[in-house]
Amino acid sequence: MSGTSGGGVGPDDAGDGAGPRVPAADAAPARRQARLGLFLFAAGYHPAGWRLPQARADGAVDPAFLHRVAQTVERGRFDFFFLGDALATGVEMQDRFPSQMARLEPFTMMASIAAATRSVGLVVTANTTYAEPYHVARMLASLDYLSGGRVAWNVVTGADGRAALNFGREQHAETEERYDRAEELVAVVQELWDSWEDDALPRDKATGAFADPAKVHAVGHRGRFFSVAGPLNVPRPPQGRPPIVQAGTSERARDFAARVADVVFTAQTAIPEARAFREDLRRRAAAHGRDPDQLAVMPGLVPIVGATLAEAQRTYDELNALVVGDDDLRPLSDAAGVDLTARGLADPLPALDGPAHARARAYVALAQDATGRPVATVGALRDFFRASGRGHRLVVGDAVRVADLIEAWVTAGAADGFNICPPYLPGGLNLFVDLVVPELQRRGLLRREYEGATFRELLGLPRPASVYARG
Ligand SMILES: Cc1cc2nc3c(=O)[nH]c(=O)nc-3n(C[C@H](O)[C@H](O)[C@H](O)COP(=O)(O)O)c2cc1C
Repeated sequence: MSGTSGGGVGPDDAGDGAGPRVPAADAAPARRQARLGLFLFAAGYHPAGWRLPQARADGAVDPAFLHRVAQTVERGRFDFFFLGDALATGVEMQDRFPSQMARLEPFTMMASIAAATRSVGLVVTANTTYAEPYHVARMLASLDYLSGGRVAWNVVTGADGRAALNFGREQHAETEERYDRAEELVAVVQELWDSWEDDALPRDKATGAFADPAKVHAVGHRGRFFSVAGPLNVPRPPQGRPPIVQAGTSERARDFAARVADVVFTAQTAIPEARAFREDLRRRAAAHGRDPDQLAVMPGLVPIVGATLAEAQRTYDELNALVVGDDDLRPLSDAAGVDLTARGLADPLPALDGPAHARARAYVALAQDATGRPVATVGALRDFFRASGRGHRLVVGDAVRVADLIEAWVTAGAADGFNICPPYLPGGLNLFVDLVVPELQRRGLLRREYEGATFRELLGLPRPASVYARG
């Protein structure tokens, strides 16, 4: 590592030996590569990202813009371009979540992105609480063909309960019920993909046999939530079974992820918690008979990049000055674990030296580590909260500082890589790709060329045979 670590990591935190083994194929330097995804917030992750003069405010609905962003991700040799989704919205989201308030439907958008890219993985979100497995199976199989085997499915059970009101239900189901349904749905989708064996379509002009009836199977599923006859009306996807991404947080979600997910998207802000989370998932995966190295845990990372730390800090300040919203200090107080509501923004932070203030001290330390400078006033802490309040790790810095953080987390076994959430687009991504990516490549932390054609190959996952072919 060079320079100071942006990872909030002391010497004892790095390299705990509990992390993953280094794959034999990874020659010296003996360290793992970092995986990178781009989690699309078209108006920026920062709530005021769209207001920067150099930012696009309306990119979410412009196909040419979306193509350019995906092509930049590919130029940066990221593992994937990721589209989240929700099934409800409201205009009150505009001050905090403009990127998530109004956007395109992800499967439709990804079909267009697939045609504009060649190598990068494409993650689309489908919510299992409101979906039918036959729909999901054929949409993903179709996208897998359209992308040449580059699609993956982000399985969510729905963070926004208002979705129920858009789907003829009175309320969002409870966690257990949502995950019961998700488990059954994922199993049926995978079985539908398998319902055509890989060689089920000989298309033999000489004999006239287009399909081989012995290799096309009814799934005949009758379960608690779904009844599906099958077969699917799309042949087996190029990847056989497209990879699965998961982002739940509950106990049930972790267990689900450990059983079915190939990538876990999470929100973690410090190495010790992140390492504990990743180790927990790896243990659970092993308990389910899986190779934990085939489960990539990727927290979000919000990089505010500049040619120098000072330049990045100027962008951070500029972004924060553009935030619209009231000055209620309650949400900050809740996040920081100390009541700041009676104070003014210019006031210094209160003394935080008692045992009751351990959480607040950690929060201030995180803010200082993330921004690379002292955080001494209520206003400075409020700015940090606004910039990072949706839970992902923030880092303000030049390429070395940002790469240090990524390297520290990966070598400490706290992450397999990161989902990059640029604070604004396209500049926030361009700076990352132009400055941080070469630094990561120089350190041997990121591929220089794509090493596989399909997403499974990029992730180092074998292609599973159809259950029917296996007997
Ligand atoms: C990093 C991250 C990203 C998420 N992205 C989405 C999303 O795009 N759409 C969605 O409906 N839910 C999303 N979720 C919500 C989860 O799927 C999950 O429902 C939520 O975290 C509640 O956890 P639980 O399902 O374990 O109770 C995300 C969660 C996390 C932690």
